[in-house]
Amino acid sequence: MPYESIACTPRGLAQSLAAGILDNVNACHVSPVVAGRAQELAALQQSIAAAASGEPVAVLVGGETGVGKTRLITEFADRLTGSARTLTGGCLELGPAGLPFAPFTGVLRQLVRELGVDGVRGLLAGRSASELGRLLPELAESADQPAEAYRGEARARLFEQVLGLLERLAQATPVALIIEDAHWADRSTRDLLTFLIGNLPALRGLLIVVTFRSDELTRMHPLRPLLAELERISWVERTELPRLTRAAAAEQMAAILGREPAETQVDTVFRRSDGNPLFVEHLVGGDAGVPASLRDLMLASVQRLPEQTSELLRVASACDVSVGHALLAKVTGIDGDELSRALRPAVAANVLLIDGDRYVFRHALIREVMHSELLPGEHSGLHERYATAIAADPTLVPAGRAPISLAHHWHSAHHLTMALASAWQAAAEAGNALAYAEQLDMLTRVLELWDRVSDAPQRIGVDHVSVLTTAAEVAGMSGESDRGVAFATAALREVDAGTEPARAALLLDLRASLAEQGDLLMSSDDLMVAMQLVADGRHEAVRARVLATLAHLLHKESKDSKAHAAAAEALAIARAENEPRTQAEALLTLAVLETEGSPISKGLDVLGLFAAARAAAEQARDCSVLVQAAINESHVLEGLGEHLLAAEVARSGLAEAARYGLSRTSGAILAVNVAEPLISAGNWADADEVIAGAIAAPSTGPHRSSLWVIAGSLALARGDLPGAADALGRASDLLAGQRFRSQSHLPHLQLQIELAAARDQPGQALAIAQDTLAVHDLLPNPRYAWPLLRAAAGVAADVLTRPPAARIVEDAELAAGVLATARQVGAKLEVSGPVQAALQLTFRAEVGRADAASADVSVADGASADTGTLWWAAVAAWDQLGEPLPLGYALYRAAEAALPGSAGRGAAVTPLARAAGIARELGAGRLLAEVAELARRARITLPGEPAVTEPASPGLTARETEVLRLVATGASNAAIAAELFISPKTVSVHVSSVMAKLGAGSRGEAVAIAHRRGLLADAS
Ligand SMILES: Nc1ncnc2c1ncn2[C@@H]1O[C@H](COP(=O)(O)OP(=O)(O)OP(=O)(O)O)[C@@H](O)[C@H]1O
Ligand SMILES: [Mg+2]
Repeated sequence: MPYESIACTPRGLAQSLAAGILDNVNACHVSPVVAGRAQELAALQQSIAAAASGEPVAVLVGGETGVGKTRLITEFADRLTGSARTLTGGCLELGPAGLPFAPFTGVLRQLVRELGVDGVRGLLAGRSASELGRLLPELAESADQPAEAYRGEARARLFEQVLGLLERLAQATPVALIIEDAHWADRSTRDLLTFLIGNLPALRGLLIVVTFRSDELTRMHPLRPLLAELERISWVERTELPRLTRAAAAEQMAAILGREPAETQVDTVFRRSDGNPLFVEHLVGGDAGVPASLRDLMLASVQRLPEQTSELLRVASACDVSVGHALLAKVTGIDGDELSRALRPAVAANVLLIDGDRYVFRHALIREVMHSELLPGEHSGLHERYATAIAADPTLVPAGRAPISLAHHWHSAHHLTMALASAWQAAAEAGNALAYAEQLDMLTRVLELWDRVSDAPQRIGVDHVSVLTTAAEVAGMSGESDRGVAFATAALREVDAGTEPARAALLLDLRASLAEQGDLLMSSDDLMVAMQLVADGRHEAVRARVLATLAHLLHKESKDSKAHAAAAEALAIARAENEPRTQAEALLTLAVLETEGSPISKGLDVLGLFAAARAAAEQARDCSVLVQAAINESHVLEGLGEHLLAAEVARSGLAEAARYGLSRTSGAILAVNVAEPLISAGNWADADEVIAGAIAAPSTGPHRSSLWVIAGSLALARGDLPGAADALGRASDLLAGQRFRSQSHLPHLQLQIELAAARDQPGQALAIAQDTLAVHDLLPNPRYAWPLLRAAAGVAADVLTRPPAARIVEDAELAAGVLATARQVGAKLEVSGPVQAALQLTFRAEVGRADAASADVSVADGASADTGTLWWAAVAAWDQLGEPLPLGYALYRAAEAALPGSAGRGAAVTPLARAAGIARELGAGRLLAEVAELARRARITLPGEPAVTEPASPGLTARETEVLRLVATGASNAAIAAELFISPKTVSVHVSSVMAKLGAGSRGEAVAIAHRRGLLADAS
């Protein structure tokens, strides 16, 4: 049997792992959580469910070394705990002399450990287990059994006995039988496995999962024909476990590091690991080189190849992760057929893969290691050969890749002049392809080489300042504004403002914009200097540009009329000078100014301004202004309550940003602008999708924190407090050290307040609210200030409306203080647009709720009637806007306000039922819980809910138990009456009845008896 011999399979990565190299590889940290794999786990869970219901199911899971087969199976097994038994046996790489049936021996040993020898024998219910003793001596029936060979009848009996054992085991609970690493399976194991899988229809409740390394399955591998045979069986599924996605690899890294990794680190590790989790583990925290242990692992996979083959691999490694056949032939001087022949062993050993007419290293890391094996002279010589070959015939590399390939090879060949010129060309090519990060790399290289090439300006046709300026602009596009600022600063040092005032002014303008984009601490000083440089009337176009930037900056910092004046002047000059880009920028600022800080309907058509801005941006062919238009317009529309329109505009902006390569800088902002209106409109599922997509994509700046804040608010509304806390933590990490910006920080503070309140830590919530109101001036930012003010008033009202017995004095004092400050701010805060108007109404209603509580509860009718009116006004406003969550909340409060009154319960039923319906439809778990609690207290049965029933204490009615619980808190009859929406007289009737039933002489005694009897056990 040639394929029995492991020795004739090529020694790949896999064998080296088993050869013990893995031991010293394990010096890294393993992620405590399984990243990604939700789909695969769900599929396995479905399989066990199918098996449990009597269907035959077997799953063959292939995957390359280290891709996570074992981890997946282990996680699956963990999740089965309690609902199914898992039995796992692994095949060992022992060669032909190894033990046959090794994984089944392992399975039996596990069973004996769990059930004991007698337990296992018992399972066989008197039938002979004679043959099982061959696998595990403990199970042998008599010690002196002759050791026959596995042939004929004995072998058939053994198979039957294994089958019988599994059959009986699965009758009790479903069983997942997992056979790991089947690529090492001996022939006997393969036969038994085939037998069991073939007999699955007779084995109710058994799922068989087999894992194997697909990268081990060379052409002659003995598992291949078996897999092919099994695959034809209808109940056998074969799947290939893929490498991790970038997002999952980032998740694994975060879990290993215990913090969110930097985007650049994710990029590097993902590129080098190709998403193989084993490699991710080793590369995380490693320095630039390949860790020694991983290096050994990689080298082991090529050491066995013929010398000529590994020599060719080294040459190929100087190219890239993939190299064309023709190019390699050219560089090596070996003719095509001979080259194929010489590389065949590498393909057979799975080191190289064939992709059309190209060879691809199976792992970026293998290439990296091979490349580092090259000697220095060999290295530069090889690169020069590649460069010369590609320069002579650019079709040797894929279309469009010639400039970047040439830049790479000339640089690695240390040919300075050619390296500089080719890097400049490659930068231009990358810019055309919207690959800004690559473009920036190439520009950086040009700058590095500049001083070492004497005729650099002649070689590329521009001066040093121009290269720096381009680098600054490109850095901005790729989201690296701080680097952009550094490039602009370097350029400014080289420009003489006396002789070139316009150039200097434009650079100052660029630096100011970059600093603003990167949220760097700065003032408008640069722009003031720039204005002076071009004040002489000779550079009007530049002056307009500076004014437009100034207007943009001013409108973000404050609301004064200076911003408006600057924008209007910029627009007028830009029109006269026919500068469409500047016109577009000025129009955008004017449009936003028009809606913010001033009542909208001033006659100016805001949407018209946006349309004009877009037209100008199109004329200027300036994509960043176009994308900015989408950002501003969607922001304004959302403020106007035009949720669907806002989401649509932002969505098309998102697509546009992707088309122009601006996702990295603008993607997160636009995603926020899509998600916010979707949430307002009650379309939470779509919002989830947008947020998840944007979080998975790389992005920079504080907008990433806004994504997490939105995700957290959504989790909170759903009642998922751990999810909300996690999201809040991530947002906090991202905001740490950032300058205060109302649009990032105020929603973040608001979430902190709401989460603390939801966790029943009102003291903490109020402390945050108090600090926020004390430290930050909310008046310039009504858009983000109103929601925060509403949240703060809500928490304060919650504390102040608690029954006196449950009120904590310090909290109540804090609440009164917060309420007073909030009232003052609210009186001065501007209201623009219908959303802010609705928020203002809600805020007033929360204040009214708190005020009503400070009036005497027993004669609260007058005050609560007022509160009710306030809430109904909020209801009407949210209804009009079509925002279900705040509408549901206002309805709930309106119902609550109706309750203490004489008409109470009847008037509360309709709004409460509507609130419940809204909350249910949205999946707003928190609101639903609040509504349900109010319904319970008021004994209102909501439609679709079972009639109010609570466990009553023995002998006491549900109402009496309720009353007794409140008595136990020390509440007076009046307070209890307020809490349960009944009259104090009714309370005293209940209290007397409770005392009589418990045989207590006083309220205190009743409580004591109740505690003793455990009647109040769940009262906390
Ligand atoms: N989804 C994942 N999330 C986090 N870590 C993972 C994940 N998948 C695998 N790992 C980690 O990567 C390493 C390799 O995974 P694992 O041992 O499961 O690979 P394998 O496919 O079974 O490899 P082999 O072919 O060598 O058996 C392990 O340390 C594992 O914990
Ligand atoms: Mg494994």
